[in-house]
Amino acid sequence: MAPRKIIIDTDPGQDDAVAILLALASPEDLDILGITAVAGNVPLDLTAKNARIVCELASKTDVPVYAGCDRPLGRDLVTAEHVHGKTGLDGPNLPDPEMPLQDQHAVDFIIETIRSHDTGTITLCPLGPLTNVATAFQRAPDIIPKVQQIVLMGGAYFEVGNITPAAEFNIYVDPEAADIVFKSGIDIVVMPLDVTHKALVTKPRNDAFRNLGTPVGIAVAEMTDFFERFDKEKYGSAGAPLHDPCVTAYLIRPDLFTGRHINVEVETTSDLTMGMTVADWWGVTDRPANALFIGDLDADGFFDMLTERLARL
Ligand code: BDR
Ligand code: CA
Repeated sequence: MAPRKIIIDTDPGQDDAVAILLALASPEDLDILGITAVAGNVPLDLTAKNARIVCELASKTDVPVYAGCDRPLGRDLVTAEHVHGKTGLDGPNLPDPEMPLQDQHAVDFIIETIRSHDTGTITLCPLGPLTNVATAFQRAPDIIPKVQQIVLMGGAYFEVGNITPAAEFNIYVDPEAADIVFKSGIDIVVMPLDVTHKALVTKPRNDAFRNLGTPVGIAVAEMTDFFERFDKEKYGSAGAPLHDPCVTAYLIRPDLFTGRHINVEVETTSDLTMGMTVADWWGVTDRPANALFIGDLDADGFFDMLTERLARL
C-alpha cells in the first residue's frame, strides 16, 4: 500500500519531537507533505524553529516546515514552559537549524495542499492547539469534505485536565478552534490523556532509547529525561507520557490502540470548565458519534515499535 499522505501540525515540545521523529523514520507508512508549526507549548518563533531542529536531527531536511498562527482564534496565548522548558525542547543540546522556514503561511499551505490533492487522500495530524487547522477550515470550507481523517492529540475524559482541573492543554489553549474541528463532520481519531498517560517512558524504555547509541536515540532519551520531571512531580508517574507520538503510532499501527466511537463536544463558554472535552463515553446522550476516542494502548508494543523505528534514523 502507498504511504499515507499526512500534514503534521505541531508545537514542539519534546513529545511532539518524538512524534515527528517516528513519522520521519517511517517512509513506507507515512508521506509527510509538510510540517506546520503553531503557537502552543512555546511561542510560534520557537515552535517553527524546533520543528526544523527535529528534522535536522533526523537528517531529513527535505521536509518543508511552515509557520502558522501565532495566537489562538479569539484569546491570548497560554504556553507551557513549566513543562517543556524555556526553549520548548529543553533537555538535549541541539544546534540551531540551518534549513529554511518556508515563506508560505502554514494555513495557506494546508488549504492549497488539500485543494490540490484528490478527495480523501490527506490526513491531518494535529499535535498542538487546533488554531491552524480551524483557521484553514474557516477560510476555505471547501477543503473540509476533502480531508481523509484527522488524528489528533487532545482532550481527556477519565483523566480530566492537566492545565486546569477540567481541561487538557491543547484544547484549553484554543477551545473555539477545537470546537470548529470537532463539529467539522470529518472522521476524527482522538488521543486523549486517558491513553497518553499510559504511554509512559519508564527507566528501561528510556535506557532503550539511549542504548541505540545514535544522536537521535540519545536526544530522545535526554528529551524524555527532561520532560518526565514535571509529570513525576505532579502525578508520581513512572516516567514521561509520550502524548503526541500516540498520533503517529496510531497511523502506523492502529491495532495497538482501542477506543469507542462516541460524541465529543468542547466547552467554550464556562470559565470553570473552559476547554473541557465532554466525551459521552457511556453513551448517556443521543448526540451522534463524531470521534473515535481512544482509551487504551498496548504500551509494550508501542515502545518496541517506536524504539525499532527510531533506530533507523
Ligand atoms: C499536550 O500538550 C503539550 O504540552 C504536549 O505537547 C501535548 O501535545 C498534552 O496535554
Ligand atoms: Ca504538542
